[in-house]
Amino acid sequence: FDLSARNTLALRAQSRFAVEISDAGMLAGLFETASNMGLPVRVLGGGSNVVLAPQFDGITALISTKGKRIVSTDDEATLIEAAAGESWHDLVAWTVENGLGGIENLALIPGTVGAAPVQNIGAYGAELADCFAELTAYDCRTGADRLFDGKDCAFAYRDSVFKHEPDRFVVTTVRLCLPKAWKPNLNFAGLSDLAGGELTPKSVMERVIALRTSKLPDWRVHPNAGSFFQNPIVTLDAAQRVLAETPTAPNYPQADGRTKLSAGWLIEQSGLKGFRMGPVGMSDRHALVVVNHGGGQQADVAALAAYVKDSVRARFGVSLHEEPVFL
Ligand code: EPU
Repeated sequence: FDLSARNTLALRAQSRFAVEISDAGMLAGLFETASNMGLPVRVLGGGSNVVLAPQFDGITALISTKGKRIVSTDDEATLIEAAAGESWHDLVAWTVENGLGGIENLALIPGTVGAAPVQNIGAYGAELADCFAELTAYDCRTGADRLFDGKDCAFAYRDSVFKHEPDRFVVTTVRLCLPKAWKPNLNFAGLSDLAGGELTPKSVMERVIALRTSKLPDWRVHPNAGSFFQNPIVTLDAAQRVLAETPTAPNYPQADGRTKLSAGWLIEQSGLKGFRMGPVGMSDRHALVVVNHGGGQQADVAALAAYVKDSVRARFGVSLHEEPVFL
């Protein structure tokens, strides 16, 4: 089964078998069949945060469950629920159309609802954890559904429990709590000038869409997986070494005393914006984005990533960590 069109990096990738999961109830049967056949199962949502191997000798489960609804609403908040296979951006647009604010800063992030909690998607000063209520996941080990609240998910910057136990849970339904008293979140460069004006979740969403469209290459035109590295969170000492050399380096002090640096800036300063290595390269629009210029495979991406990490370490003494998952 060809997965080239099912990953936003457009890597050439085959799976021995693939099955479309249109109902969460199919998961139990899938894992039983796989176990009987002695084959591993791999779960794919929108394919926007993965670097696929050319050949997977197992079953790829393509999550395509659909459905979104308002579960309940009171004076304080509206609880909404969406199936894992829904498009994340469609969910954002749907909440905004229904006059619900809370996730508008997360507009246009590629991928599915089910993948959103796995890496705790974030952008423009917001992250999924901010409005997360709970989720249901299928536990492959026990064969039972399990409910996770925010604490159980152990959300952190681009991180959750699901990243640490990658083959155990399949997220099936996500519930979000959107507060009735909507307050626009404009604490981010590119949004702050909106303050003071008459704002709605829709007008904020439209600005976020405009910002993302102007900054990030469109994966449909230049196949990519968004930010390829996390922004490194380093000790104060390490940050000061970078700042001593380049006082203008973007830096964001963290609550724990460490400092978040900008991976895109570090890569650009290492001379790698627009750098090409075979069929892949770092985008010439945003240095943090790996682009497949055509015909790239997982090994090409791995070689480029290793080269970029070595270069940034040699130049700044800072280690970068990949954001997408190599499968
Ligand atoms: N920068 C450069 N050169 C570049 C790109 C960026 O110097 O080529 C500098 C910018 O000038 C700016 C800083 O790096 O000072 C930060 O850049 P930007 O605002 O574009 O954000 P980012 O830190 O690179 C993060 C998220 C994005 C998210 C944006 C906006 C991570 C790893 N990435 O990027 O998320 O959209 O902030 O909130 O945290 C993703 O995860 O796939 C993603 C796109």
